[in-house]
Amino acid sequence: MLSILKQSHSGSSSSVAMPQGLDFSQALSEITGMGRGGGGGDLQEMRARTLSKRRVDMHGFCSPSDFQRSPYLSARGNIVSIFRGSTEEGYKAYHADKYDEDKNPNGIINFGTSENKLCFDLMSKRLTQTDMNLMEPPLLQYPDWTGHMFLREEVARFLTYYCKAPAPLKAENVGNPLSIGDCDLLITNLVFLVPEAVLIATPFYGGITQSVFLYGNVKLVYAYLDSKGLKICPMMCAFLILCCVLQGVTVRALILLNPQNPLGDIYSLSELRDYLEFAKRHELHVIVDEIYMLSVFDESATFHSVLGMDRLPDPQRTHVMWGITKDFAVSGIRFGTLYTENQDVANAVASLCYFHGVCGSVQHKVAQLLRDRDWINQVYLRANHARLKAAHTYVTDELKTLGVPFLNRNAGFFVWIDFRKYLKTGTFEEEMLLWKRFLDNKVLLSCGKAFECSEPGWFRIIFADKTHRLQLGQ
Ligand SMILES: Cc1ncc(COP(=O)(O)O)c(C=O)c1O
Repeated sequence: MLSILKQSHSGSSSSVAMPQGLDFSQALSEITGMGRGGGGGDLQEMRARTLSKRRVDMHGFCSPSDFQRSPYLSARGNIVSIFRGSTEEGYKAYHADKYDEDKNPNGIINFGTSENKLCFDLMSKRLTQTDMNLMEPPLLQYPDWTGHMFLREEVARFLTYYCKAPAPLKAENVGNPLSIGDCDLLITNLVFLVPEAVLIATPFYGGITQSVFLYGNVKLVYAYLDSKGLKICPMMCAFLILCCVLQGVTVRALILLNPQNPLGDIYSLSELRDYLEFAKRHELHVIVDEIYMLSVFDESATFHSVLGMDRLPDPQRTHVMWGITKDFAVSGIRFGTLYTENQDVANAVASLCYFHGVCGSVQHKVAQLLRDRDWINQVYLRANHARLKAAHTYVTDELKTLGVPFLNRNAGFFVWIDFRKYLKTGTFEEEMLLWKRFLDNKVLLSCGKAFECSEPGWFRIIFADKTHRLQLGQ
């Protein structure tokens, strides 16, 4: 890694404090020449310009001039296709040339995908025990689209316990065995009107761009955090909402990632309370993604779920998502769930779950897994946290030795690294070149652009991997 970085020198950074984001029809007009045009005066024009700027370099791999419009696809299809082509480049390269100790020792090491690769031994052992293998007729038939009741009850008990809910959470509020991405896209698709927007702090997990913006067709408005990982706060939200109002955009929701991906920040109880109270005052929905809630690996850090609060300020507009992909190191089993007291939201989401469901046998396995509290507490979580901590220490010690600054957090699988000093001019083009140089040298990382970071030069590395692979990627 150091040899790749040494090919670059130091450079400056820039940050933009304008309300920016993604707007579908704007994207269409800029990239395909379809949709509505840019604005006329001051604010409107400024917005068009900033969005335009972001569109052009949004993913760095593709510029509008290179874009070949497919005659077989609609305007929307073209946008989705160009987006997929760019963001998937690294992932595709990895799958075509995966590192394997025996079969492909010169292959690509994947430090880009947020997966926990430290607990396959524990999980495969647990998931192959005899209690997992049930094949009764109900599991082989179409299920209730909101999920089998046995599973919803188990999820409710599990969340009550691990979120430290003050009263038992209700199975009827647990819905929809889905992936977490599906939860996002269904909520935004069904709850918000197309001209409305959702506010999110950047840098943020890039899949949200796909689910909310590309799939849901809902605008994303960014609250840019600075490089120190400053947290989103009500005052910042209020300012951005006001700017949006002035531009004729209604912000209807906030997305909160807790623990945050890619920063690893955890919100304190009082921060959560402020945030939810603020949302209530403005009648904003809050979509809280707690997918890393059990991946807090240091005892000095305490995670608070919003479901653990004594009282939710606005329960009808608070929706919590959690899934097993991260906390149980099984990203191949894409099971997630949405907890909401709002029956209108739950019903609307449920009616589309026919397209997003999880098969009966997996629902059975997940219920068995979540029920096994002794194994989770005594075996799995202890080992997982110890392994995450050791891997995190290994990577951060290496970064310290290299003199590379980074955010030192203790949740999630990632370290947010500051490579700005290795960029000469401090541009996203240079960031992309650095990303490509890593890939050419068989190391897949994620660059800040993929998280809509405002400053070029930040990268996310996934450390939840075996030591020999971490050493190889070094
Ligand atoms: C914050 C966050 N939410 C959701 C997801 C997607 O989870 P799933 O694969 O279960 O849909 C990810 C995956 O990286 C994530 O980091």
